[in-house]
Amino acid sequence: MSKVTTLGQFIIERQADFPYAKGELSRLLRDIGIASKIVNREVNKAGLVDILGETGGTNVQGEKVKKLDIYANEQFISALKSGGECCMIASEENEELIYIDSEISSEAKYIVAIDPLDGSSNIDVNVSVGTIFSVYRRRSTDVPVSPDDVLQPGIRQVAAGYVIYGSSTMLVYTTGCGVNGFTLDPSIGEFCLSHPDLKMPESGTIYSVNEGYYVHFPEGVKKYIKYCQVEDAASNRPYTSRYVGSAVADIHRSLIKGGIFIYPSSAHVPSGKLRLLYEANPLSFIVEQAGGRASDGYGRIMELKATAIHQRTPVFIGSSAMVKKAEEFMLRYS
Ligand code: AHG
Ligand code: MN
Ligand code: MN
Ligand code: MN
Repeated sequence: MSKVTTLGQFIIERQADFPYAKGELSRLLRDIGIASKIVNREVNKAGLVDILGETGGTNVQGEKVKKLDIYANEQFISALKSGGECCMIASEENEELIYIDSEISSEAKYIVAIDPLDGSSNIDVNVSVGTIFSVYRRRSTDVPVSPDDVLQPGIRQVAAGYVIYGSSTMLVYTTGCGVNGFTLDPSIGEFCLSHPDLKMPESGTIYSVNEGYYVHFPEGVKKYIKYCQVEDAASNRPYTSRYVGSAVADIHRSLIKGGIFIYPSSAHVPSGKLRLLYEANPLSFIVEQAGGRASDGYGRIMELKATAIHQRTPVFIGSSAMVKKAEEFMLRYS
């Protein structure tokens, strides 16, 4: 039986990787890990407790809010508040920023942008969902922390990760020194290192996009989709189409098998659907750290200027050769 390394042990062992190795970021990641285990427990028995279905409300995104969206949001906010390392939270489920100015957080240096439950449309039909988080270090010095501290470009993230509640529950994260994946072992209630130093295949044969919106896609996306479908044995085409509807699941599959995930601008979402702060940037940080590429069709997502906490961006994320090819079509046709 090879040595089991838990998330907690790994974070401590790799402490020196952090530019500010004083333990605070480690504790923050531990707090997120604990909250994700609590959310996982509810996701795993969603059919047995009153947590399926809608709350009847809509969020700032104009989406119907699911009970599990709210439950997950409450768990992560409570864990971050009680952990004492976080001074501000931007959450998909909260229109405004959440300032944490409690006694234990008076010295807190980190800001977290979070999508507490990604893929909400899949909750009631037992398909993989996820959580996505992004961590910044505050740059302001006076109190209270400034909203600008969360409107930093993605290149300034100090950590990012996702949890995928799927056939197994995994936590995948980076602090800028590579990507490592941990699988939850329910028998001991610990995330255990299962995918050390994850690397995204340079190319792949799976493309992932909601083709239901095809008629409204930019011309470059239409041309790229047709390129994926044309027979060409030398380049392993036609590719396979896979679309889960949870970005975490579609991007995790691309990380493991290779592939490209695209959510472009479209009639119903002129700036794209995915939110920059708590979906596109953290997923891009992980993908880039694993050797992949993350573009808005023309340039690096992580260099985009953040001006609003719920702003959206088109995303072309995945194997670098595939994203580069899609960018060629965007440059030529859109
Ligand atoms: P969320 O559930 O956090 O609102 O995110 C859902 C996102 C993303 O996870 C997924 O890729 C996309 O919405 C699916 O959108 P469509 O249903 O329009 O394809
Ligand atoms: Mn949502
Ligand atoms: Mn989401
Ligand atoms: Mn969500």
